[in-house]
Amino acid sequence: EDAGERASTPGPEKADKIRLRSERWFGPADLRSFGHRSRAMQMGYDPKDWEGKPVIAILNTWSDINPCHMHFKQRVEDVKRGVLEAGGFPMEFPSISLSENFMKPTTMLYRNMLAMEAEELLRAYPADGAVLMGGCDKTTPGLLLGAISMNIPTIFVPAGPMLRGNWHGKTLGSGADSWKYWDELRAGKITQEDWRGVEEGIARSAGTCMTMGTASTMTAIAEAIGLSLPGASSIPAVDSNHIRMAKSSGRRIVDMVREGLQPSKITTRASFRNAIAVAMAMGCSTNAIIHVIAMARRAGVNIGLDDFDRLSHEVPVIANVRPTGTTYLMEDFYYAGGIAALMKRISAFLDLSCLTVTGKTVGENIDTAQVYNDDVIRPLDNPVFTGEAGGALTVLRGNIAPDGCVMKPACCDRKFHKHSGPALVFDDYPSMKKAIEDEDLDVTENHVLVLRNAGPLGGPGMPEWGMLPIPKKLIKQGVRDMLRLSDARMSGTSYGACILHVAPEAYIGGPLALLKTGDIISVDVEARSISMEVSEEEMARRRAEWKAPPPRYERGYGWMAAHHIMQADKGCDFDFLQTDFGGPVSEPVI
Ligand code: FES
Ligand code: MG
Repeated sequence: EDAGERASTPGPEKADKIRLRSERWFGPADLRSFGHRSRAMQMGYDPKDWEGKPVIAILNTWSDINPCHMHFKQRVEDVKRGVLEAGGFPMEFPSISLSENFMKPTTMLYRNMLAMEAEELLRAYPADGAVLMGGCDKTTPGLLLGAISMNIPTIFVPAGPMLRGNWHGKTLGSGADSWKYWDELRAGKITQEDWRGVEEGIARSAGTCMTMGTASTMTAIAEAIGLSLPGASSIPAVDSNHIRMAKSSGRRIVDMVREGLQPSKITTRASFRNAIAVAMAMGCSTNAIIHVIAMARRAGVNIGLDDFDRLSHEVPVIANVRPTGTTYLMEDFYYAGGIAALMKRISAFLDLSCLTVTGKTVGENIDTAQVYNDDVIRPLDNPVFTGEAGGALTVLRGNIAPDGCVMKPACCDRKFHKHSGPALVFDDYPSMKKAIEDEDLDVTENHVLVLRNAGPLGGPGMPEWGMLPIPKKLIKQGVRDMLRLSDARMSGTSYGACILHVAPEAYIGGPLALLKTGDIISVDVEARSISMEVSEEEMARRRAEWKAPPPRYERGYGWMAAHHIMQADKGCDFDFLQTDFGGPVSEPVI
């Protein structure tokens, strides 16, 4: 019963009876384990708390500077309650909180830092199972990347979207309405006082962005892969159903440990394809591409841009959630039946036999799901946007982006699906920002605005700068969309004819670096092509003249990232974190 009695049994002979990973910390009759036990006792625990009980590591990305995760400070107690009820031993491990709202230059620079932290926390501590608490954009892929590599039983608890925004009786959507009203302010259509009203009303509760941004996209993807409880990702953060979901997740992980249900049994090629199909039907954020490719590769599944392109042409967008949809927000989506209902509706595109954290299949999980509002979750024959027209995302290739770039055809003025126009090129964000406000800028609505040196190395970290602002001069003329091209990303809450993720990026000498203002750029969504009309000889001449820009970092994390990050089409993981980079990492020996 007590530690002394266990310690009286010699360790090595017992070795073959050890089932729980954590027993290697708490079980042996040696000095190391004496230390682990006595220090657990220092915290007020005793052997009843750990003997024979799975230790559940709760990786909590709560922080005072992350409004999207405000409720995690309390919610973690609900997860712990579930773990205790099911006979586990919960231990919370605070993990770096990538707050989209405050981190500079971009949270994307730190996604892999969270991934490394998650993996190493689970490895270095006595964890038998993991509950991942995330939701704000990069926290979801960051946590999942690490957990997939570590491969102990894992369940993901999504933060859930915040409530709809409200201003003067108008519904406000995260991100999307900031850009929209900012342009109205620049055009002189609303007052400074109005603008302050928008500022006060756009984010009213804990939770992630409630448009179909990267947060809602990635938590839906986590669920569609099978790593969250069914329906979890659609529950608003402040709904009491969210509390019960958190508790149920805590209960479930304990059984998952007993069942040996690791991510590797869940994360298959078919489950990633399910996730992509769901993302397409949701009208997902372009960021999904980068994160899913990275996660799949960690799971040993080779998913690439072509998988996204293929599925986007098959699966129609049926979630009428802004910015791809026209009207609704995540709160409405939840009331309409949420993701389980959406999955039910696109069952024909899913592999229903995939295993999930429930221990049941996707098909079993969504069996009784129903849509309660056909305008929010549309029937397949009345979609928001069809696959034939390009679907949620289209991959374009050509001499300016040999390794591809992406666009959301559903999210822009249709005239830009086929367009040729002269490039107006900016080498960095500050000069672009300054020029855009200059009312004498030599620009027309047919120009293609280009921002380069904003990729994984150039940004650095590939910031969400891809929705370049419309020049003030044109805003005043009523122009609200233009073709824009960059090696940056854009927020999932953004919209417009923005072509993103150009690979290879300009900063490392991709062809985008050779473009000059005035060169003609041609885009054809149907043909999935993008090109700069510059001859090969001229390109070669410009290449010979091109000089690599100086490094962004000469020490520290940024230096390491620059040396190891891969391009957007490969998911921006660090090369050395990939599953096939060298042999497997062994368990700590002592
Ligand atoms: Fe956290 Fe959008 S800022 S989810
Ligand atoms: Mg975002």
